[in-house]
Amino acid sequence: MMIKENLFPVASDLPQTVKIPKINGRILIDGQILNSGFPSRTVTSPCSLRSEKDGSLYYPELGTTPQVPEEIFMQAVDAASRAWAKGRGEWPSARMEDRINAISALRDQILKHRESISRLLMWEIAKTWTDAQAEFDRTITYMNDTIEATKQLDRDCSRIQFVDQIMAQVRRSPLGVTLCMGPFNYPFNETFTTLIPALILGNTIVVKLPRFGQLLWDFLLEPFRDCLPPGVINVVNGVGREIINPAVKSGKIDVLAFIGSSQVANQIKQSHPMPHRFRSILGLDAKNPAVILPDADLDLSVNECVRGTLSFNGQRCTALKMILVHRSVSKSFIEKFAARVDQLTCGLPWDPGVMITPLADRNKPQQLQSYMKEVVDRGGRLCNPTNGGKMLGSLFFPAVLSGVPLDARLAQEEQFGPLVPIVEFDQISEVEDYVLNSQYGMQASVFGREPKSVGHLVDFLSNQVCRINLNSQCQRGPDVFPFTGRKNSAEGTLSVTDALRSFSIRSMVAARQDPVGKQVIQGVLDGDTSRFLTTNIVL
Ligand code: G3H
Repeated sequence: MMIKENLFPVASDLPQTVKIPKINGRILIDGQILNSGFPSRTVTSPCSLRSEKDGSLYYPELGTTPQVPEEIFMQAVDAASRAWAKGRGEWPSARMEDRINAISALRDQILKHRESISRLLMWEIAKTWTDAQAEFDRTITYMNDTIEATKQLDRDCSRIQFVDQIMAQVRRSPLGVTLCMGPFNYPFNETFTTLIPALILGNTIVVKLPRFGQLLWDFLLEPFRDCLPPGVINVVNGVGREIINPAVKSGKIDVLAFIGSSQVANQIKQSHPMPHRFRSILGLDAKNPAVILPDADLDLSVNECVRGTLSFNGQRCTALKMILVHRSVSKSFIEKFAARVDQLTCGLPWDPGVMITPLADRNKPQQLQSYMKEVVDRGGRLCNPTNGGKMLGSLFFPAVLSGVPLDARLAQEEQFGPLVPIVEFDQISEVEDYVLNSQYGMQASVFGREPKSVGHLVDFLSNQVCRINLNSQCQRGPDVFPFTGRKNSAEGTLSVTDALRSFSIRSMVAARQDPVGKQVIQGVLDGDTSRFLTTNIVL
């Protein structure tokens, strides 16, 4: 493993371009940005620095983040309720064209903060500089694609249909107050993949910030305030278990957009007084397996599995979290894989060529070590013993473990970190049993070429997971493809177009195709008296 010399610099040695940010996080409620009147807590970076005084390591302070109590959180919910106004608010009843223009203006404002938001991603969650910029750019692309998809949806819905003597126009209408909670691994992008479709279709929003990746949101408050009517979007932060359940229990939240753990999602859903009125769009845990068949191209498989397991330190819901390799090729695969892992550069996110960076969750290294210990105690083998599994601050050097017992926690639970379990199999039925018994069903990767075995596995997996990647790692993108899962892995589907469906419901106007019906509809269209019943389109 390539460990950079002088891994943790002193602050004064940081490159010019890597200044430590200082942000005192604010909140946005009902169009007002507030910087006081609520408790805050200090935010430190997981990227350790070395003290100039005595050389000890410390986590540098980046600023403070709001920790609002329940009553302030409820003020945000009430502001979103007023902006929704039982569906009669300015935003939910605006013409599509007006909402598209507002979201386009929002995008233009946010674009001005590319550098600052990317830098905060680097400092707050230790995302490499390249990946941080990619997260920003991907989000802007998602906004552009959503704008175009909304225009297309509007065109598709603008026509009047004639069926069995009924004339009808079918459109998609908003659902209500939406609580958006994104994950810490993509705190900007994944929150926006729910926020933007929900907004553009006329829902009103409360954003509760992710566990890490909070300070970057401060750059978004002015753009939100300036581009959207008051209360349409409210941004607050606090301790989830203290503020979310009471808010959901109030019955004032209609939609939950949550990317995080299935355990938390269950708790939140159970708090709603009328669950049938609570729409959920969820991206949850996963345990995506890679299956290496006897005829797999091993170099390609190793390459894809290294990226699949260890990109952003394995902190992706779509990461490969279990490798099942046929015994006939396992020795060679494991040797090549462990050697490649040992060549990865570990360091700080601004170091050129770095792949492994500190973990955002300061408790994660201990949890990973306890997974490792259980496997090794039960006869598993650490395949890269020189540095694998060592800890330095919140940096955890990736460890490759073979011979992992199938009932070990590492084989069953989502590790969400740089720990790679490998299990050998003889019969494909062993792979099938593992997948059938898994609590998760997001994606899988199959490495092999022989059509009969690949075809068989594709058919088996297609009823177990929602994306099968052939000879390539698991991944969400391109974002126009459906992103979803079975079992504990998801509810609803996110893609540019699916998200527009998820955050809306179809409403229609229908009339008999007789002289009275035709006259009324024609009158409304000619007089342009309805925002809903109209054949005007957004160009
Ligand atoms: O963490 C889940 C993300 O949606 C994964 O996206 O596959 O593009 O890294 P990605």
